[in-house]
Amino acid sequence: MAETNFDVIVIGAGPGGYVAAIRAAQLGLKTACVESRETLGGTCLNVGCIPSKALLHASELFEEASHGTLAKWGVKTSGVEIDLDAMHAEKAKAVKELTGGIAFLFKKNKIEWLKGQASFTGANSIQVAGTAYTAKNIVIATGSSVTPLPGVTIDNEVVIDSTGALALPKVPNHLVVIGGGVIGLELGSVWRRLGAKVTVVEYLDEILPGMDGEVRKEARKIFKKQGFEIRTSTKVSGVERRGAGAVVTVEPAAGGAAETIEADAVLVSIGRRPNTDGLALEKAGLAVNKRGQIEVDHDFATNVPGIWAIGDVTPGPMLAHKAEDEGVAVAENIAGQTGIVNHEVIPAVVYTHPEIASVGKTEDELKDAGIDYKVGKFPMMANSRAKTNRDMDGFVKVIADARTDRVLGVHIIASVAGTMIAQAAQAMEFGATSEDIAYTCHAHPTHSEAVKEAAMAVQGLPIHI
Ligand code: FAD
Ligand code: NAI
Repeated sequence: MAETNFDVIVIGAGPGGYVAAIRAAQLGLKTACVESRETLGGTCLNVGCIPSKALLHASELFEEASHGTLAKWGVKTSGVEIDLDAMHAEKAKAVKELTGGIAFLFKKNKIEWLKGQASFTGANSIQVAGTAYTAKNIVIATGSSVTPLPGVTIDNEVVIDSTGALALPKVPNHLVVIGGGVIGLELGSVWRRLGAKVTVVEYLDEILPGMDGEVRKEARKIFKKQGFEIRTSTKVSGVERRGAGAVVTVEPAAGGAAETIEADAVLVSIGRRPNTDGLALEKAGLAVNKRGQIEVDHDFATNVPGIWAIGDVTPGPMLAHKAEDEGVAVAENIAGQTGIVNHEVIPAVVYTHPEIASVGKTEDELKDAGIDYKVGKFPMMANSRAKTNRDMDGFVKVIADARTDRVLGVHIIASVAGTMIAQAAQAMEFGATSEDIAYTCHAHPTHSEAVKEAAMAVQGLPIHI
């Protein structure tokens, strides 16, 4: 008979859950992971990070081939066309290989995959597909799903969420994106590059809330130059299917006259909310906070002994790498080790072109906290590699403590900002000062030299501006 009693049961096999399961098994704990999807890897691998980056990559290739970037370099193309089926097939291959890779790692580490939907029956017991299981430790890693817009029905044909936007069978003439956040701008970029007119409707007075103020303004300028229509301080008061498309009613966020926008597709991307429905948390003695999240302490323990929670279902940024690091830490804590995640240093990247990346505090956050700081900025225009590649949009901004010079935040817009932010995160994790970065030798010619120069600018002595 199959085993029903484990040291650890993880609920959910996303980046948080599958990583927690692997580390728990590596540490010698008898581990099972419950997942209701057909494949492992959660939102990120199946309908999030991976398929979206595949389409971002493919659509960038198309844009370069068809809109002049290659031609500028003397690479002449003609008759460039999109075969959307082939694009989706290649994306599906990446997803299949990566989700299959997790299944392989589960086998390798002898992790039992319990297929189905888990619900608590007690503090250390759950049921899955009619079978009861017990565990000394249960880790909730159930992730998040799309926040619905009241009164708007997502049919994933015309009115779509991110999952629908990853699978459109044809390029819409006009895509209206509700929400100028990460998903709206990434998936909006995909379809704009493939030929759609894209209108972004954002409730707040600027896109990308949470990012540094200057970065947000610059990003908007760049996206507008690319052809995005961006309508901030605007709310959507209705979406109605009409014929093969939809009519979106918008009005000023502060109130005023309504107007309508016709669209072939409408993407609802106004945020994500934690998944706890159907878990029967009350049977375990657990409750959620006002935002629907499961609260945890520094060790990822909930208020019920033996129950832990990580990833999107807990407070903090909804990011795969945050969930993964918490997965490692929670397993180490369960095994009696000391698992720690430094939540002050979690990088965030928007994979548009250029990319937008951030780690640590923004100027606004420091102002609110009354902390004195110094800023060093360096434009990508003056970076030799960006200039060589003829891809010079953006800047690097390093913020350091005015008294100690310790780096408090780094914010970047640059073609490869997502790669550049790693060095900033590492420097901050090691408690670096801006002087430490300024005096670290950086290879030439690299985009990363702009980080060094921005750090030099904090000292008031950049070389190349
Ligand atoms: P999830 O990945 O959501 O996994 C939870 C899993 O639990 C799911 O598979 C679900 O089926 C399962 N589950 C839930 N309840 C139960 C239950 N009761 N029983 C059994 N199984 C259950 N983040 C990044 O860092 N970088 C990116 O580039 C990025 N791109 C994204 C693009 C899109 C379009 C989206 C939607 C998200 C993106 N994210 C990205 C966010 C990222 O996907 C999430 O932060 C990450 O997946 C969270 O991991 P998790 O393990 O907490 O939960
Ligand atoms: P988001 O929180 O990034 O952006 C939502 C936007 O919608 C905000 O700007 C908000 O002000 C706006 N908004 C909210 N209600 C609105 C309304 N009624 N009308 C108009 N605008 C409204 O959420 P998004 O883009 O849905 O992404 C969800 C999560 O997925 C993010 O929190 C992010 O962490 C994660 N993600 C991460 C990615 C990455 O790391 N590259 C990529 C995609 C998603």
